[in-house]
Amino acid sequence: MGSTSGETPCCHIIALPYPGRGHINPMMNLCKLLVSKCSNLNITFIVTEEWFGFIKSTPKPLTITFQTIPNVIPSELIRASIFPEFVKAVYTKMEAPVEELLDQLQLPKVSAIIADTYLPWAVAVGNRRNIPVVSLWTMSPSVYSVFYHFDLLIQNQHFPVDNLAERGDEVVDYIPGISPTRLTDLPTFYSGTGNQVLDKVLEAFICIRKAQCVMFTSFYELERQVIDSLSTIFAFPVYSVGPLIPHNTLDSTPDANLDYFKWLNSQPAKSVLYVSLGSFLSVSREQMDEIIEGIRESGVKYLWVARGDTARIQEACGEMGLVVPWCDQLKVLCHSSVGGFWTHCGWNSTLEGVYAGVPMLTFPIFWDQIPDSKLIVDDWKVGMKVRDVGKEKLVGKKEISAIIQRFMSLDGYESKQMRRNVSELKETCAQALSEGGSSEANLDAFISKYLK
Ligand code: UDX
Repeated sequence: MGSTSGETPCCHIIALPYPGRGHINPMMNLCKLLVSKCSNLNITFIVTEEWFGFIKSTPKPLTITFQTIPNVIPSELIRASIFPEFVKAVYTKMEAPVEELLDQLQLPKVSAIIADTYLPWAVAVGNRRNIPVVSLWTMSPSVYSVFYHFDLLIQNQHFPVDNLAERGDEVVDYIPGISPTRLTDLPTFYSGTGNQVLDKVLEAFICIRKAQCVMFTSFYELERQVIDSLSTIFAFPVYSVGPLIPHNTLDSTPDANLDYFKWLNSQPAKSVLYVSLGSFLSVSREQMDEIIEGIRESGVKYLWVARGDTARIQEACGEMGLVVPWCDQLKVLCHSSVGGFWTHCGWNSTLEGVYAGVPMLTFPIFWDQIPDSKLIVDDWKVGMKVRDVGKEKLVGKKEISAIIQRFMSLDGYESKQMRRNVSELKETCAQALSEGGSSEANLDAFISKYLK
């Protein structure tokens, strides 16, 4: 990667991630990329005290410094169970302590605040201090387009919709840049819980029009149409710089001291299904039992990240695989024994699956994960669906075991086609990240505009 050091005068960036793993990871990776390109850049990365505890040992250059605000929001550990309250607190309680911290720090020469789009108050913080605000969107640009054009859903009487069970198959074909989509494949703002959160998110999409630029964690070739269409609408520049993974420092040698890598090393190529439902969500106990039985009955080898439920799942799921509380997901996906990724379709996981060239078996749970599943299965054709969110509530073990076998088969027509497609997408992704590629060029353009 070319360095712009030497030409860059000393400057400072403030990074304000949304408090969640799926948001902090890409923000940190963006910061690492920026400091690797600008030797005179310092970054102040602001998180709550609780999150500092989770991430303080993350390897990072000395030019990135953590600063904390008090735990003014509910704990991450109960976030999933009180999601609307959590979101409300993020929107209303973080601004004042961040302002206070910035007053204390008196940072010199701040070139930009990079703030997660879900922290809309950051735009006001920047405007008050005369600092440009870069809005980092850590989900798919397609989902961005849905929220940005929400008025179109209302005009077309596709929001609000009370009887989604009957109207779910109606097609939405007027959101700029996105392919025709069933109502049920839009983010989950139709549920009661979603609506309170939706109000806040739509508020963010109004504030965001006052930001100075938008950065996407996607790469141009992956969502060309939607990125082009948003670029023509926005009054500010758009930079697609993803996937935001530490690709230039990624050590491809698995750590042989870790049991799960030892186990993966002993498995045949492409034989293992990696199973993860992300960093904070889960499913009902009843559904979990069906998944456990389905995986066991499929006879497929698996590596399952189960967070708190490790012992129960390992005992119930049997000896064909390994259950761990947490793993180095990107390295696992890049391991030659992994042949498939059962994913909840969080955007980071989706991009990591694309980067690693691993086909995805989609099991979306919530919010943007639903349209991400559609992108994976219908648009890019690099995966299969375990369930159609609009149709079934509970997916049974027989269905699960059958789809896993079809998905993991290395010689079925469908599976071969899917594997070919994902290899091509992997190649396109590698090109975007390589020198002169679209993501690299976008990052350089951003640096030239804001950090010089
Ligand atoms: C959240 C939302 O749920 C998701 O819909 C949105 O797109 C982003 O924010 P999360 O559920 O945490 O994200 O999922 P995801 O976006 O996939 O991020 C999880 C991150 O944790 C990934 O970078 C993944 O590599 C990492 N991870 C997960 C690990 O490193 N190890 C694990 O064992 C599990």
